[in-house]
Amino acid sequence: MSKFGSDAGANETAKLEVGGKTYDLPVYGGSIGPSVIDVSKLYGDSGYFTYDPGFTSTASCESDITYIDGEKGQLLHRGYPIGQLAEKGNFLETCYLLMNGELPNAEENEEFTRAITYHTMVHEQMQYFLRGFRRDAHPMAIMVGMVGAMSAFYHDSTDITDAEQRMIASRRLIAKVPTIAAMAYTFSIGQPTVYPRNDMTYAENFLNMCFSVPAEEYTVNPVLADAMEKIFILHADHEQNASTSTVRLAGSSGANPFACIAAGIACLWGPSHGGANEAALDMLAEIGTVDRIPEFIARAKDKNDPFRLMGFGHRVYKNYDPRATVMQETCHAVLKTLGIKDDPLLDVAMELERIALSDEYFVSKKLYPNIDFYSGITLKAMGFPKTMFTVLFALARTVGWVAQWNEMVEDPKQRIGRPRQLFTGSPVRDYKELSER
Ligand code: SDX
Repeated sequence: MSKFGSDAGANETAKLEVGGKTYDLPVYGGSIGPSVIDVSKLYGDSGYFTYDPGFTSTASCESDITYIDGEKGQLLHRGYPIGQLAEKGNFLETCYLLMNGELPNAEENEEFTRAITYHTMVHEQMQYFLRGFRRDAHPMAIMVGMVGAMSAFYHDSTDITDAEQRMIASRRLIAKVPTIAAMAYTFSIGQPTVYPRNDMTYAENFLNMCFSVPAEEYTVNPVLADAMEKIFILHADHEQNASTSTVRLAGSSGANPFACIAAGIACLWGPSHGGANEAALDMLAEIGTVDRIPEFIARAKDKNDPFRLMGFGHRVYKNYDPRATVMQETCHAVLKTLGIKDDPLLDVAMELERIALSDEYFVSKKLYPNIDFYSGITLKAMGFPKTMFTVLFALARTVGWVAQWNEMVEDPKQRIGRPRQLFTGSPVRDYKELSER
């Protein structure tokens, strides 16, 4: 029983006057952040729907996992600021926190790390599924297919009413998605699958599966492994974003966890969402040089031009995305380690950010760089092709989707998600014979 939210009962009442009647709507307060007006009974009482395309003012659920204050540019995971988790923690510790609500103690950390490490191999038959793809398939297409296909390989953890099976499926997803992501990458470049290693950390293992070859020893660069950890932590969860909402909606029908996460991967692929890191790098390459920035700034401001600055703006952040700050620092650390002094894309990115942050259009609309603005430059420097950028986002976000999915399944109030509509089509009419059309 929570002392906040709908369990705690209404702490005030909103009054809605419509159609000559007044309706009392309960208001629930959370622990921090905006309160909510409960409209769940409005249609039954009044015959009216609420209307909110894009859900800009709609809370779809109650959650304890992640809190974002868009005005302050604050991101908390179970209360811990993202900057502290990225600076002081590691990814598996963040996974434990998101899944269980607390940072693990030494014993919990050892058990969880061991459980994930020893679940990283995938069923060998998945190799044959992988080989069905064309070599030039986009790795995100492979991810959607392979993660969805996990439903066909791990039947023994698909009963969502069984807490033990939910836990096994959750750990399988966190453990195996990096292996599948690396398989997608090596397959796309015609190299053999590199199997996971149990003597490596989560990030080291992923880099090894991507970049080592059987022909020679491969040593993971510790600075790149640290950067990979930070990038995974920064992307782990983000409240009720589009892909997380997709996972929740798919899960609300009772679909198995592998199918729900595959749905989340499909949604993340879009350029307005997780696909923005790939699109941002394309944009920086298209701009090419600092002297062309004004031309693109003008296009971004032109209402008749669909062009947008990729990696800028956010539905919630109306201040600097706190993840972008850490991402920028990580970007500089990676470039320095790799001895990449003058990456023209970074020069364009830094100058574009400087100009945009002083331009009235962007300032008035509170458009700041988001996490996708610097991630592409960093990942490119690390050796990933841009087609892998959203795959890495999906890899890291798997734990957030899984944590939010578990929270939804365990919520006694959860029901199948089924929005309504404002209908603007034809009223009822009789069938017209062909001769009359
Ligand atoms: C992610 O939700 C999450 O939490 C997502 C995410 C996560 O971790 O899960 O944070 C990850 O998806 C980050 C966002 C990545 N996307 C991009 O970088 C793509 C470029 N950004 C835009 O497409 C846009 O900013 C969105 C999609 C991110 C947000 O769109 P909204 O909230 O619907 O805002 P909007 O489109 O209504 O824009 C408001 C105004 C508009 O102008 P007006 O119609 O009011 O005159 O700002 C303008 C827009 O034209 N605008 C931009 C812009 N983004 C918004 N103008 C130029 N360039 C941009 N990038």
